Amino acid sequence: MLKPSTIKELKKIVGDRHLYTVAEELVAYSYDATRREALPWAVARPSSTEEVAAIVLLANREGFPVVPRGAGTGMSGGSVPMQGGVVLSLERMDRILEINEDDLLAVVEPGVITGELQRVVEARGLFYPPDPASHQVCTIGGNVAECAGGLRAVKYGVTKDYVLGLEVVLPTGEIIKTGARTAKSVAGYDLTKLMVGSEGTLGVATKIILRLLPLPESVLTLSAFFPDIDSAARAASGIIRERVLPRALELVDRASLRAAEQYLKEDLSGGAAAMLLIEVDGTVESAAREMERVTAVVSRCNASRTEQARDQGERERLWKLRRSISPALYTIKPRKLNEDIVVPRSRIPDILREIEAIAARHNLLIANFGHAGDGNIHTNIMIDDADLPKAEIAVKEIFAATLRMDGSISGEHGIGLSKAAYLPMEVSPAALIAMKRIKQALDPKNILNPGKIFL
Ligand code: MLT
Ligand code: ZN
Repeated sequence: MLKPSTIKELKKIVGDRHLYTVAEELVAYSYDATRREALPWAVARPSSTEEVAAIVLLANREGFPVVPRGAGTGMSGGSVPMQGGVVLSLERMDRILEINEDDLLAVVEPGVITGELQRVVEARGLFYPPDPASHQVCTIGGNVAECAGGLRAVKYGVTKDYVLGLEVVLPTGEIIKTGARTAKSVAGYDLTKLMVGSEGTLGVATKIILRLLPLPESVLTLSAFFPDIDSAARAASGIIRERVLPRALELVDRASLRAAEQYLKEDLSGGAAAMLLIEVDGTVESAAREMERVTAVVSRCNASRTEQARDQGERERLWKLRRSISPALYTIKPRKLNEDIVVPRSRIPDILREIEAIAARHNLLIANFGHAGDGNIHTNIMIDDADLPKAEIAVKEIFAATLRMDGSISGEHGIGLSKAAYLPMEVSPAALIAMKRIKQALDPKNILNPGKIFL
């Protein structure tokens, strides 16, 4: 609990109106997309770097946890204040400060909505590729904290590939700048990369310099439906083997398709068992050439039907289906254990077969969908509360299979709370100690987002 004098000081920093302390207000900041929840003691909504630094300094003096938060769309519990403390909501720091067309960069505050940045830069012929499925609501600050991936990572990479530099409030309250406004910089340790994906445990990014690209001239989108998941997985590998690198190569299994179609009240797949959603981009000529090769591969792999979007409206309809899977799955069972394993992309057919065997062994419904192009599959174990013990065994088996195939237990959602117990399956004891030493050196009082990543 916070002392009345601390509440008074917090109000002085952010202003009375921007410090929430009553339950009705706190509840809106108590959960993320995992549906885990814990009430914070207060929510502070700063409007500047200096206010963030003042809150963190106060936390060091008084010893309360500070939990940074974007839009709460995270999928591993990273922004849930499990130990109470003050949620630091960055929603008011939502300005796009600069778009530089010559240096191909943007400077933004952490509360900018990712989809809004995409729209603004695209209107100027520029492109910000990272594209989490929740782009209409998630924030760049949250994307940086979790190193979000998304639908275009197969060709364009993930958030860390676009962060050139940061302004960061360290856990001890100092304000530092990392990186540079240049395409290259090797001045000292790469603190930018250390911060990106550190899940709000090593610093709070208050300004973010993002690399932009020219907007591709042409984008073509194809959905291909298959009679079985194995054919779809083979087609995904076949496209890469054909030397085509699509900007999106998404796989959706039967359970995920049905859930999304019920949720949207639309039959898009005609009862198919699997779908690939493939998008290529480039010049008009190169995109058309790549799409021809993609179409040939999917027909060779038994696609029962393909549908190429003829206009923006049709494109959006296909993407709406894909982006709605995550919320849709919640409507078929009360709980989902949503994992985001990643394997070398050639092992996708193997890991899917392995997951099927695990599901059968435990009599569990596991819905699989995700970024087949980069090997990142979202395995969703759909359960009632009573199934939790066996579902947890299944999670462990899925992680073990993933690691046997040289994969990783989290491609893009982070460790947060939900995977902390499993991190030692992947990271060796010595590497874990090195990580904990970094945390201890930067945050000696364990102020920033305590209880995350490590048990
Ligand atoms: C997605 O790709 O849709 C997101 O990562 C969300 C999810 O895994 O459910
Ligand atoms: Zn994803």
